[in-house]
Amino acid sequence: MSVYGYRDGALHVESVPLHLLAGEYGTPLYVYSKRAIHDDIRRIEDAFADTPHLTYYAVKANANRALLRLIAGEGLGADVASRGELALALGAGFPPSKITFSGVGKRDDEIAYALEQEILAFNVESTEEIDVLNDIAGTLGKRGRILLRVNLDIDAGGHAYVSTSMRHNKFGMPWERAREILLWASGLTHIDVRGIHSHIGSQITKPSTFLHAAEAIAGVVRMLREGGVTVHDVDFGGGFGVQYHGFVQHPSLPHEEPEAHELSTAALIRPALPILRQLGCTLSIQPGRSIVAHGGVLLTRVLYRKVTQEKTFLIVDGAMTDLIRPSLYHAFHQIVPLAITSAPHEVVDVVGPVCESGDFFAHDRTIAQLHRGDHIALMCAGAYGFAQSSTYNARPRPAEVLVDGTTHAIIRPRETVEQL
Ligand code: LLP
Repeated sequence: MSVYGYRDGALHVESVPLHLLAGEYGTPLYVYSKRAIHDDIRRIEDAFADTPHLTYYAVKANANRALLRLIAGEGLGADVASRGELALALGAGFPPSKITFSGVGKRDDEIAYALEQEILAFNVESTEEIDVLNDIAGTLGKRGRILLRVNLDIDAGGHAYVSTSMRHNKFGMPWERAREILLWASGLTHIDVRGIHSHIGSQITKPSTFLHAAEAIAGVVRMLREGGVTVHDVDFGGGFGVQYHGFVQHPSLPHEEPEAHELSTAALIRPALPILRQLGCTLSIQPGRSIVAHGGVLLTRVLYRKVTQEKTFLIVDGAMTDLIRPSLYHAFHQIVPLAITSAPHEVVDVVGPVCESGDFFAHDRTIAQLHRGDHIALMCAGAYGFAQSSTYNARPRPAEVLVDGTTHAIIRPRETVEQL
């Protein structure tokens, strides 16, 4: 059950009407639900309940400090992609022993900082990186625990920018070279080889893709063991797709068909689990989107309604600077009014104020007619929303609010012009 829904014609999150928050904190505004994040974590843990595993939240999806504290409080670990994310994760209470560091381009100072903090492991992506890690660890008198990210040459489907494990992608090392690389790395003085890592992409919507990845991983583990490499750990990455279409329902909303198939982590991972269980390794996963996407919305207000021969435009106060996913990946976010009306439906482009034709939230979307001053919500915006925001056009970033039952609080104040 979603914590977002209409009550008496007003869109609520938990027990709070969203128009109240738009009025009190202004727009554009990110709102998150504590309950939703808690429930989504539980759903992921239930999906893996019969498979011993560790879950590292991919901090890049949303690095708000209050949300990180909440997620750390649920007992999860963290996967970080930079020194900044590592500092935030540590500050939020993730123990270093539950932090992994992924990414294709770790700087020397980032490696040194992570070694000093004694994080659990580095997911490494090149032989040069392993060499550098070995050198820095030697200088610091530490040891670097590594998982080699393998490129499995699998198409994750979806947008090309979020598919990461095809041969032409920059990520990982070709799986065929894993044995040679890990045998060499085992001989380095300051490196502990732990195993392999794979993250094939994001918003993956087919169980068969995860099955395919699990089979490929199992093949690599077999090949490594036969070749004399001990494999303790397998990190299976993240990428569990979530529902974006038809997320909230009301008889007055235009009908929006949810995604055709069941989009839950449980359904996506089910066929792959028996294979992962048989690996005889410590299994870990790194979900980001599936933990925070459904918990967040972006609220924005209609500034102008402009009708031309070609189109009706709703010009809103939110922009690609606040939520770039539609512009960057042609991603779909359901757009719903905060207040249900009996207005007729119409087809509109929902666009922002930024000086780019790429600044849009939706093209040719059917919604109930809206007017200047009306508020809308872009649903399922908790992942890669604020995290990918910018200040282009000198637009200060939105505020963020966390709702918990009947209470709500600012968890990041609106940026000011002076801070730009
Ligand atoms: N692990 C690694 C190494 C990753 O690079 C990522 C995401 C994840 C885990 C988490 O994946 P998730 O469970 O969130 O799918 N900005 C794009 C998504 C980029 C994903 C980048 N890597 C979007 O808005 O769709």
